[in-house]
Amino acid sequence: MNPSIGYVILAAGKGTRMHSSSPKVLQTVLGKPLLGHVYTQLGHVPQALVWTVVGYGADQVGTMFTERQSGFVYQHNQLGTGHAIQLAWPQIVASGVTHVCVINGDTPLVPVTEIEALVLQCSTAQAGMGVLTTILDNPFGYGRIIRNSTGNIQAIVEEKDCQQEKDIHEVNTGVYIFDVTQCTPLLGSLNCDNQQNEYYLTQMVSLCTEQGCAVVGLALQKNTFLRGINSPQELVAYEESLRDQIVAQHQRAGVIIRWNQSVVIGPDVTIEPGVEISGPTEIYGQTHLAAGTHIESHCWIKDSILRACHVKSFSHIDSSQIMAGTTIGPFARIRPGTTIHQNARVGNFVEIKKSTLQAGAKAGHLSYLGDCEVGQDANIGAGTITCNYDGAAKHRTIIRDQAFIGSNTALVAPLTIGKKVVVGAGSVVTKNVPDNMLCVARAKQVNIDRMKKKSQTGE
Ligand code: UD1
Ligand code: CA
Repeated sequence: MNPSIGYVILAAGKGTRMHSSSPKVLQTVLGKPLLGHVYTQLGHVPQALVWTVVGYGADQVGTMFTERQSGFVYQHNQLGTGHAIQLAWPQIVASGVTHVCVINGDTPLVPVTEIEALVLQCSTAQAGMGVLTTILDNPFGYGRIIRNSTGNIQAIVEEKDCQQEKDIHEVNTGVYIFDVTQCTPLLGSLNCDNQQNEYYLTQMVSLCTEQGCAVVGLALQKNTFLRGINSPQELVAYEESLRDQIVAQHQRAGVIIRWNQSVVIGPDVTIEPGVEISGPTEIYGQTHLAAGTHIESHCWIKDSILRACHVKSFSHIDSSQIMAGTTIGPFARIRPGTTIHQNARVGNFVEIKKSTLQAGAKAGHLSYLGDCEVGQDANIGAGTITCNYDGAAKHRTIIRDQAFIGSNTALVAPLTIGKKVVVGAGSVVTKNVPDNMLCVARAKQVNIDRMKKKSQTGE
C-alpha cells in the first residue's frame, strides 16, 4: 500500500526561553511568524491533513491563522511533546492516513523532500517510526541519538537526562514519521519519568524498540535551518542565515543589491531581474518589485507592488501600488490602500493614506493626503492638508484633473475640487469648487500705514 501522510505541527508551548509574552510560534523571522513559515513549507499538503497543536496564546495564533483553525488541536496544559501528540492522535487515526509526520513549530524551514524520503524509508522497512537527525558541532540542548552496534536507532536522550550521552553529536531535529497502525498501541505507554517531568515524544523511540518495531533514521547534512528556535539569540541567528541566503538568491537571479549585508528581504517577496536595491533597506510580506524599480537606502516596504519606479532614501511604503515612472521620496510615507499611477511624483515629507494619485499628479513637499483622489496632472502645493477626519468619521476629498492647489491649503472633507481649479495659497476650503474656478478662501490682506496712524493719534 502506498503511504499516505498527515502532518502535526507542535505549537502549544509558551517558549519560556524566548522571554516574551507572545507564543513562540508567532515570533517572526524576516517579518513572517515561525508558524507561517511552516505552513508555507507544507503548502502542497491538503489543509485537512495538517493539524496544529496549540495551547499557550491559542487565541492569538487562531487570529493570525483563521483559515487553519479547523485543524487546531487544543492542549490546554502543556505536559510535553508526547502529550501533545496523544491529544491529536484520534483525529489522525480518523483521517485514515498510514503515516503521520510530526514537526516542531519552532523550526520554520521544514525539510520537505527529506520528509518524503523518510516516509518511503519507513514504509519500505515497515518501521514503526523514523527520525530525521543531523550532526552538530555543538549538540547542546538537543535530544541525542543512541544507535546500537548495527546502526539502528534505539533511543533519544534529552539534554537534561544526558550522562555520558552528552558526547554524542548526532541529534534529533524534531521531525519524525510514525506508522499509525504500529504506534497506536504504544502511545498510551508514554510516561513522565524524566528530569523535566514531561511526556516526551522522543520516548516513542524506546517504546518502539522494546516492542520490536524498527526505528529508521535519516541523517542530514549539517544545515543551519534544521535548528529549532528557542531563544532570542537563536532567533536572530536563524533570521540572519535566512536573510543572507535569500539576498544571495536574488543576486544570482539578476538583482543588483548594494551593501547587501544590510538588505533584508522577506521569503515571500518576488523581485524581477533588473531591480536595483541599496542597503540598508527592508522589504517584507507579499511585495513584488518589477524590473526597472530602483530602491535607494533606508527604505521600508511591505505588501506592496512596485512597477518600474524610483523610491528615494528614507521612504516607507505599506500595502500600496506604485506604477512605472513614478518617483517617491526622499522621506515619503505611503500608507495602506494607496495607488500612485504612472509618472506621478511624491516628494519629501508627504504622507499619503488610502488615496489614489492619477498619472502625472504631483505632491512635492510637506503634505497629508488621506482618503483622497487626485486627478491626472493635478498639482498639490507644499503644505496642503486634507482634513479627512471630523473627530467621528473619515471623509473623502476629490481633486479632479489638472487642479492646482496652492501651498498651505486645508481641504476640509467631504470636498470636491473641480477640473483645472486653482486654489489660492493659504486657503481653508470647506465648499465644493466647480470646474475651472479660481478659489480663494482666506482672510483678505490689509496693509495699514503705521506711520500715519501714529501721527493721527499725536504720538
Ligand atoms: C525538542 C526535542 C528534542 C529535539 C529538539 C529539536 C522533545 C522532548 N525534545 O526539544 O529531542 O532535539 O526538539 O529542536 O520533544 N510543544 C507543545 N506542547 C508541549 C511542549 C512543547 O506543543 O507540551 C511544542 C513547542 O511549542 C515547540 C515544540 O513542541 O514548538 C518543541 O518543544 P521545545 O520545548 O522547543 O522542545 P526542545 O527542548 O527544543
Ligand atoms: Ca525547540
